[in-house]
Parts: sequence; C-alpha cells; structure tokens
Amino acid sequence: MAARAVGFLAALPLCAQRSQVLRPIHRLFSCPGTAAEVKREERSSGSLETGSEDKTPKKKFSEVQKERREQAQRTVLIHCPNKISEKKFLKYLSQHGPINNHFFYESFGLYAVVEFRQKESITSLQNVTRTPSMGTEAAIPFKSRFFNLKTKNPSNPTSEQSSVQCSIHSPPSSKKLLELLCYAESIDDQLNTLLKEFELTEENTKLRYLTCSLIEDIAAAYFLDCTVRPFGSSVNSFGKLGCDLDMFLDLDEIGKFSTNKTSGNFLMEFQVKNVPSERIATQKILSVIGECLDNFGPGCVGVQKILNARCPLVRFSHQASGFQCDLTTNNRIALKSSELLYIYGALDSRVRALAFSIRCWARAHSLTSSIPGSWITNFSLTLMVIFFLQRRSPPILPTLDYLKTLADAEDKCIIEGHNCTFVRDLNSIKPSGNTETLELLLKEFFEYFGNFAFNKNSINIRQGREQNKPESSPLHIQNPFETSLNISKNVSQSQLQKFVDLARESAWILNQEDKDRPSSSGSQPWGLAALLLPSVMNSVCLAKKVRKKPASERIKNLLESIKSSGSENATSTDGKRTVSTQA
Ligand code: GTP
Ligand code: MG
Repeated sequence: MAARAVGFLAALPLCAQRSQVLRPIHRLFSCPGTAAEVKREERSSGSLETGSEDKTPKKKFSEVQKERREQAQRTVLIHCPNKISEKKFLKYLSQHGPINNHFFYESFGLYAVVEFRQKESITSLQNVTRTPSMGTEAAIPFKSRFFNLKTKNPSNPTSEQSSVQCSIHSPPSSKKLLELLCYAESIDDQLNTLLKEFELTEENTKLRYLTCSLIEDIAAAYFLDCTVRPFGSSVNSFGKLGCDLDMFLDLDEIGKFSTNKTSGNFLMEFQVKNVPSERIATQKILSVIGECLDNFGPGCVGVQKILNARCPLVRFSHQASGFQCDLTTNNRIALKSSELLYIYGALDSRVRALAFSIRCWARAHSLTSSIPGSWITNFSLTLMVIFFLQRRSPPILPTLDYLKTLADAEDKCIIEGHNCTFVRDLNSIKPSGNTETLELLLKEFFEYFGNFAFNKNSINIRQGREQNKPESSPLHIQNPFETSLNISKNVSQSQLQKFVDLARESAWILNQEDKDRPSSSGSQPWGLAALLLPSVMNSVCLAKKVRKKPASERIKNLLESIKSSGSENATSTDGKRTVSTQA
C-alpha cells in the first residue's frame, strides 16, 4: 500500500492540472459546480486515502445504520414550487425548530430534504399542515412526513424566488464517463475516477434512509414498532447511483419488547392469528403492506406483490425519490450479507474501486441486467471480486472463516440455524501487506476468471479457495451463510461463456502496449475506457494484430482461447454499440 500512496501523492500536481482541463467537460454533462459535485469531489479525494492506509477508527455497520436511521426520523421530504427562495423557505421551516441540514434535488419536480435537529419539529410542522381539497377527486387523509409546499401568491414571484442548487442523483452519461477515463493519468486513476463518479453520494444515501423511514411510517399503521431497514447495495458500500432500494420489514423488535418485560409468576402473550408456515405468514404480511402502499402510500406507484418468489417481496416505485423499491420481510440473512460486504468494502480502498469497475464493465457488455433472468448478478460479481482478492499473495482480503475466528461473544449470530458469526469491529482486522496496483489487479482479475475451471470448481469466500462443485450448475458461488445454496444458480452456460470470453478479451486488451496508457493524441480510449467499449472480438482484427506484434507466451495463450471460444461476441460487434452504465 505504501508504494501506491507514494504514487498517488506524486500524481497530485498533475491531477490538479487535469481538473482545470476537466471543468468545462463536467459542465457539459451536469449541473456545474453544484454543492453536491464539490462535495463529491471532496469526499472522493478523502476516500482515496481511506482503506488500509486510514488510521482513524472505522464505524461498525450497526452504528452507521443506527445513526442514519435516527437522522432520517428527524427528516422531512417536501415537494416545492419550481422557483423558490431558499432563504425564505428555510426561515419558514425554522419556525418549527432548528434545521441541521438540507438539500434540493430534481425528480419530475423540485424536492427538498430537510433534517431538523429535533423530532418534535416534525410534529409541529404536521400540526399546521392541511389535507388538500381535491376538487372533483377525493383525498385520503394521511399525516406523513412527505409534504407539498405551495406559494400563497404564485402569480407574483418576487425577485428572491430563484433557482436553487440541486444535488446529483444519477450516474454520469456513457459519453461523460469515457471522457473522464480518457483524461485520467493511469489505469489506477481510471478505476478511482469511476468509483468517484458512481458511488452513492451523501445526499443519495440520506434519501435512501429517508425513503425507508417514510415506508416504515406506513407499515407502522399495521405493525406498531416495526422497522424498515435498507439492505443490499444501498448500504453495503457497493451501490452505484441509480441502484434499487432493497428494504427489509423487521418485525422482530415487536417480539423482543414482550420477552424483556416478563416478571413475577405470570407470562403475558399477545393473542395472535396462527398460519401454517413462516412463508405463509411472510406472504400475508407483505400482501397487506402492499395493499396499504398501493392505496394510501403517498408517492408509491406501480405496486406489485411478488409473493410466490423464493423470497416474497413487494416491488414499487417511490416517485418522489425516483427509487425502485423491493420490500421483503423475514430476510435477515440478506441483512447480514450486507454487513459482511460493508466490512470487506471498508478493509482496503482497492476493493470497492475494483468491484465498481467490474460491475460497470459487466453492465456495459450486458452481462448483468435489471431484469431477472439467466444473467450474472451484481451480488455474484462482488463475491467474485472478494474471492479473487482473497486469492492474492499475500491476500488483500481475509476469508470469512478467519473473520469468524476474530469474533467475540457479542458478534455471535445464528439465523435460522445458520452460523452468521464474524467480527463486526473493523478496527480489529489487520490491514493487508499486499501493495499491488489496481492496474495489475484488474488485469489479473480478467486472467484469473478467464481461465477459471468453472466446470469443476466452486467460488467460496468462506474458505477463500476453490472447491469441487457440489452440483452441476454452470456457475457455482457458495452462499456465504446458507452454505448449501448457490447464489448464481440462475446463470446459464451461455451467459457464463460470454463472461469468460469477455474476461479473456479484456485481459488481452490490457496487455496491448497501446491500451495500457493514455494515447499520445488523447483521443483514443485506453485502459478501462477501452474495456467499456463494445467487444472487439473479431477474428480478422485479431489476426492482424498477431501478425504485427509477436505476443508473449501468456498473451498467445489468451489469443488461442479467444479464438477457440464461441462466436457470440465475434459476430455481434459493429463498433457502434453504446456503453451502458446504468445500474
Ligand atoms: P444491485 O444490483 O446494485 O441492486 O446489488 P444488490 O447487492 O443490492 O443486489 P440485489 O438487489 O439483487 O439483492 C439485494 C441483496 O440481497 C444482496 O446484496 C444480497 O445481500 C441479497 N441477495 C441477492 N441475491 C441473492 C442470492 O441469490 N442469494 C442470497 N442468499 N442473497 C442474495
Ligand atoms: Mg439491490
């Protein structure tokens, strides 16, 4: 890591020059110089210095969740008129109590997220808020924390009513991304740039917790004291801007309350309805919450109850935040997986940088999709990155079994008979001594998986080594906690072959002398940018390149394997496909 840190410092003056050049390009594609953009730059330069070099104590996942949740409970969401005086707006709201912070964003209208210092301010605001009269339609009264602000004299806008600065909640366009990558100094710089552009911003994270909190208010109408927690990529540190919002309706707090209060000779229990199985209970709960969201949830649209899935869920769009939401219950293991990924993401700054690039690469080549199917998922790709980093010498990441050995009594966790114990205090895990660059790791990732014996081996982050596949699915990635399950059971042979072909091709591209550094003209995509372009697997082109330059033994082998692999990609390239960067 020391070598990388020196490299980064040495590159700083150049980076500073580059940012001067990049400013106008930024302006072409996004709101120029917004507070969010500045914040994103500040935060990202900070995040480059985190990871194993960072000596400041890192917060536990549960501490982050608790803090964010509590923050969200003091926050409101307000739909605002398009033109508004920020000063007057804040003065008006301050009547209800001091404001900690706020931001504006656009999503089919202008919205403000306002965090009060005290929860009481929200009650005060709700007390002066009226239910609108709808003319011919009828409004269902619901006192939520989602408001609509109207100006009393809309026909008389004052000069103070100006446009407010809005934070950005969408990833960069393909064009902008390619430009940023082409201007980078090195492949390491490219991976860090991609991370900076795609990672969830502070504002986006706040909006995710707020959305969960608003849904919790609705669910609480049925299940008092329930909790709606975000999980998956919204909180595991691997989320890209635009990713879905996975929510977990946690009813366990209700049970805990009653067991703690037992005293004397009696035991009091609630009268409850019994159903034949846990699964039926889950389906019934989600069904009623789905109805509730559909009928009374402000801003919840397109509600679908997908109750027969392996993991029953309610899917809907939260219009105001723009999030596609998946609400599940009885899914505690997924919450634990999120915590595990959060730990892996925080252990070393290279983990997230590599995972984000691999996920973008997979999306650009349609290896992943937002529609369920026989494709590989982002969750599987992240586990593949973790596994690969466990296989380095020395390892960059520890195995899950090792994290289990570091656990103390408080970390012990058994869910539905599965041992989900691992150390939760990040500060007690020793950083890796491995100093490999991101450039090397990217190349080696593609070579490793381009030549992985998927036909006989399974990927297993618990032990950090390849194991014999226990079943015949083309791709076997062991579920870290429910170890008899394969998280990539859905992946078809043809999708796996496509992944292997593209991995080999990408390794080959990175091994080309002209593709691993900025081109002298500055116009040719190189490094990571070249990998995000449509596949160049074309036998004529390859043959030419082979004749031009004698390849090393390793590259020769790679070329052989590309030639011998399926023609799926060889025939599909016209050089005109655009890069898809959306989640
Ligand atoms: P995105 O593609 O950015 O949404 O990544 P994600 O990690 O949020 O994936 P997704 O929304 O598909 O799933 C949410 C979470 O559910 C994941 O982070 C995992 O914790 C868990 N999960 C997803 N797929 C599986 C699976 O096949 N098996 C198990 N056990 N858990 C899964
Ligand atoms: Mg998700």
